Amino acid sequence: MKKVYFDNAATTQIREEVILRMSEVLKSDYGNPSSSHSFGRSAKSLLENCRKEIAAHFNVSSAEIIFTSGGTEADNLILNSCVKDLGVTRIITSRIEHHAVLYTIQNLKATTNLMVDYVKLDDRGMVDYNHLETLLKDSKSKTLVSLMHVNNEIGNKVNLALVAEICKKYNALLHSDTVQSVGYYPLDFSEIPIDFTVASAHKFHGPKGVGFAFIRKNSGIRSLIRGGEQERGLRAGTEAVYAIAGMAKAIEMSYDNLKEENPYITSIKEYFIDRVLQEIPTIKFNGYCSDFENSTYKIVNILLPISSERATMLLFQLDLKGIACSKGSACQSGSTKGSHVLTEILSDENLSKPSMRFSFSSYNTKEEVDYVVDVLKEFVSS
Ligand SMILES: Cc1ncc(COP(=O)(O)O)c(C=O)c1O
Repeated sequence: MKKVYFDNAATTQIREEVILRMSEVLKSDYGNPSSSHSFGRSAKSLLENCRKEIAAHFNVSSAEIIFTSGGTEADNLILNSCVKDLGVTRIITSRIEHHAVLYTIQNLKATTNLMVDYVKLDDRGMVDYNHLETLLKDSKSKTLVSLMHVNNEIGNKVNLALVAEICKKYNALLHSDTVQSVGYYPLDFSEIPIDFTVASAHKFHGPKGVGFAFIRKNSGIRSLIRGGEQERGLRAGTEAVYAIAGMAKAIEMSYDNLKEENPYITSIKEYFIDRVLQEIPTIKFNGYCSDFENSTYKIVNILLPISSERATMLLFQLDLKGIACSKGSACQSGSTKGSHVLTEILSDENLSKPSMRFSFSSYNTKEEVDYVVDVLKEFVSS
């Protein structure tokens, strides 16, 4: 059966070169980087080289890169410590953040004296920068702003440089969940005045279960996990050296190939939008995903003009035809709850219709787009 993987915002196919790098490290560098003998020193030196290489992509110092088990842990580390160790008493965020941020902040609000304000969004889910400034102007408390760079469900891309400027003007700390943008956009944190960002290797053709936090030097952040002194005391636990080496390789390849892969993936998304509009003209696009200025080039989220009764059939039908895509966000597959992002921006009537997220990578082709659009058309017109 034909197989099409259009769920690259959920996770990506691992690159061959990354697998090769990880097997080399698994075979030859099995020492514990905290051991003082030669096996440990070798693993430690490999680990520190990876840190240096990763830091260089963001123009930051290697001491500012802390390896974690992924994006969720890195978000938890930063948000919890901001409140518990840095004296942050107010967080300004949005209602369409990833659950790793949304739920962590809700939990902090429920268990501490934290105040939480949600920035206004326009009707397609874009941050209202004027409202952010208004919220910050009035702030008397130590404030952290937490706004994601690229939304994993609808693809909206926030103007991170602008948000950082606003935060700097009002002396607020800034955390951004950059899980969907690391490896896809050049990010120079020596230019953007941002305090904390996070990344996850499996979103850029690396392994699952590994990521990192960028934590600005001397920030005062402290470890969430108690134990050893690994990661300069910021993340206890033996580092997954092979996975970190795989992540370093994946990030290197993403940035090395960006000049070719960005326009290629953009052309796949453009082709998808053109073809789907041609075949199903009544289709709608959720958020800013059809606006290339304000959205990422790898995500399209469509609203299909069919009844809610047929909605559940659709994902099943696509799966039967070998097509992998996502209803709302794959991070919630298995969950019976609807998408909190779409709930914020869609009317009740549109919420009851099926919305599907298609997300692309450099492994996809226009032929695959043709196949998927044909299947969608057949379903909608049947
Ligand atoms: C925006 C965003 N933040 C955080 C995460 C969580 O990352 P991880 O899977 O590495 O925990 C994801 C992954 O789904 C994501 O898309």
